Order: sequence, then C-alpha cells, then structure tokens
Amino acid sequence: MIGFGMKTRLAIIYCACVLFSLFGACSNVELKMNDIESMNPYVLCSSIPKYIKKGTNLKCSMEKQKLTNVYRGIRVAAKECRYQFQMRPWNCSAAFESAPRITYYPIPETAFLYAINSAGIAYSLAWACYEGKTKDCMCEKQKSVNITTETLLKHQANQKSPEQPHIMEDRKCAKHSLQYGIEESMQLLENKHENDIRWRMDNHNKQAGRLALIDGPINKNRVCSCHGVSGACTISKCTLKLPKFGDVSDYLMEKYKSAVRMGSNNHGHLIPHRDTLNKKPTENDLVYLQESPSFCSKDKKYGILGTKDRVCDPKSKGPQGCDVLCCNRGSEKIVEVEKRQCKCKFKYCCEVKCQTCEKRVELDVCK
Ligand SMILES: *[C@@H]1O[C@H](CO)[C@@H](O)[C@H](O)[C@H]1NC(C)=O
Ligand SMILES: *[C@@H]1O[C@H](CO)[C@@H](O)[C@H](O)[C@H]1NC(C)=O
Repeated sequence: MIGFGMKTRLAIIYCACVLFSLFGACSNVELKMNDIESMNPYVLCSSIPKYIKKGTNLKCSMEKQKLTNVYRGIRVAAKECRYQFQMRPWNCSAAFESAPRITYYPIPETAFLYAINSAGIAYSLAWACYEGKTKDCMCEKQKSVNITTETLLKHQANQKSPEQPHIMEDRKCAKHSLQYGIEESMQLLENKHENDIRWRMDNHNKQAGRLALIDGPINKNRVCSCHGVSGACTISKCTLKLPKFGDVSDYLMEKYKSAVRMGSNNHGHLIPHRDTLNKKPTENDLVYLQESPSFCSKDKKYGILGTKDRVCDPKSKGPQGCDVLCCNRGSEKIVEVEKRQCKCKFKYCCEVKCQTCEKRVELDVCK
C-alpha cells in the first residue's frame, strides 16, 4: 500500500515535470515542444544552457534547423538526466538551469551533464538525418531484401567459409546517421578557446557521451531473424536501427557510477589520480577531478538544496532507500492527499471532461 502510494506519487511528479518541461514551466523560457519549429532562433538559442554553449560553436547565428535540433537534443538529455537521477540525493533538477552552480566544479555529476548533453545533441542530429529531416545529410534507406528459396539455396551452395551469411538492412542509413550526428556534435561543441585541465575533462566527457551512441547500446538495435531450409539458420537477416536514447542514457549512467578520478601532470595533462590506483580510463569512461559533495544538506556553494522532505523508499537499500537518501537522518511518514483527473469522458466533438479524484497516500520523507 505504502509502496504503491509512493510509486504513484513519483510517477505523477515525474509526469508532471515532463509535462511542465514540455510546456516550458521547468525552463527559463516559455517553450512548447511542438512550437519549436516556429520559434524565434534567439529564443531557442537563449534557452540552451550557458555552460554548454560556453566557448563552443553553438551560436545564436547558427542555421535555424540545426539550432532546433540542438535544442531538441538538450531537452531529451535533460529529461533523461532527471529520470536517471530522480531517486538520488542529486536529482538533476539543475538540468534546465542556464548555469547550474555544480557545473563550476569538476565532479562526477558535472561529467555526466556534459556527456549526456553532448550525446543528446549527437542523437537529435542523427535522428534528423535518419528521418530525412535535415538538408546536409543524405541517408539512403535500403529496401527490404526478400529472402526466397532460391537465394537460400544459392547461399547454401556457396557457403565455404564457416561464417554465416548476413543480410544487413538499413545498415547504411543508421550507420551514416550516427556518424553524421557524432561529427556534427563534435564540431558544434568544440571549444578552441581553452586548454586547461578542466577543459580537458569536459572535452573527454563530451566525447565519451557521443561514443555512447555507437559503443554502448548499438548491438541491442541489431534485430536479426533466421532463414533457412527446415529451420537451419542459413541466412540471418539483420536490421540496424538507431539506438533508443533511453539505452544511451542507461549506458552513460553506468559510466557515471564507474567514473574515473583524474589529476594533472606537470604539463597540465590528465593522468589517473593516485587514489584510482592508476586505472586508466578508456575513451568511453567518464572522468572527473574532484569528489562530489554529499548532497545531503543545503550547500550554497554548490547551489544544492539537500534532501530534507524528499520522498524515499524505506524498503530499498540502494540510493533511493531512506537510509542513503536521507543520509542517516531518518525518515518520517506523512499522509498526502493526491488529486488527479479521473473518470474522463469523451464528449462529441472533441472534448474530454474529467472529474477530480482525491486519494490519501502515505509517504516516507526524509527528516
Ligand atoms: C518482397 O515480397 C513481397 C511480398 O511477397 C512483395 O510485395 C515485394 O515486392 C517483394 N520485394 C522485393 C524487393 O522483391
Ligand atoms: C529534487 O531535489 C530537490 C532538492 O532536494 C527537491 O526540492 C525536488 O523536489 C526534487 N525534485 C524531484 C522531481 O523529486
């Protein structure tokens, strides 16, 4: 009962926030997602957070179509960040701020923000290319290949190597689109004006974010089916699609959890920090320079509010559990009246009328 209540509320909070963010309430500028196409480029541009734009080629004078795609990428990145961190002490509520204080610090959360934004921009541009919605990328979708008995037999006869014959569909387009998105994101987010250690960290994380599109969940998007005489898998026909952005963000979340702390050598280059036991990060790993604050209590320096009154799960031992989320301060039960639309009826034509239902839910919140 309690668990159900909490999940419902979380779902509602999350939905409300997604809705609000779609309609601009969580953003510094009023924007409707479906209105983007008709937005003034300067409004679009000013709603791209400053910490992402700083020093890069993301300029308000950019071509409108590209700006629109960048904006969409940042929106999808912010949404995913909030989703991934919704039950953690730092819940990514800063994602829509223009210059969140935490990005002043080279901590793992900052690493994640740079990576997910860079991935979001690459993804949005790749998607535009894949869907034929951008002028400067030509993407040829291959026609579906029919597998006939004839082709099967031919393959069987020719099969000298032990390798299984493959028919790849759509390969050109998905691959090309991802490449396009990654290259564009790289070019747009390039910062030529700085070269200190923090810049190296950001650069690394931006690239790790983009690479997550191809090194992370790509294999999940290879959908194969077997074809062959009497059930033998003589030919496997595979279709390569764009990954889902949710899979990209899951992958980056794992990278956040295993982020590698770095330090700098005499030349100002990144080297593994002494505490990381010389674990060398790969280009897919996230890197940071300073440990995070606990996020437990209010801290002006980092612009964080602390976890007092946050809803937690008393049964979980993970980050969302009351022990961890409330930082051992304990939790208390509260009863909330939840209002929601219900008994909705469709009226001809075209209106939906709903009643408001109230429900009492018991929640655990941090002291
Ligand atoms: C594949 O088969 C379907 C139905 O059997 C047919 O309509 C279609 O034209 C074929 N496509 C090709 C490329 O041969
Ligand atoms: C995120 O955390 C802040 C500070 O702890 C809190 O005020 C806010 O309600 C949280 N947001 C969500 C969606 O849980």
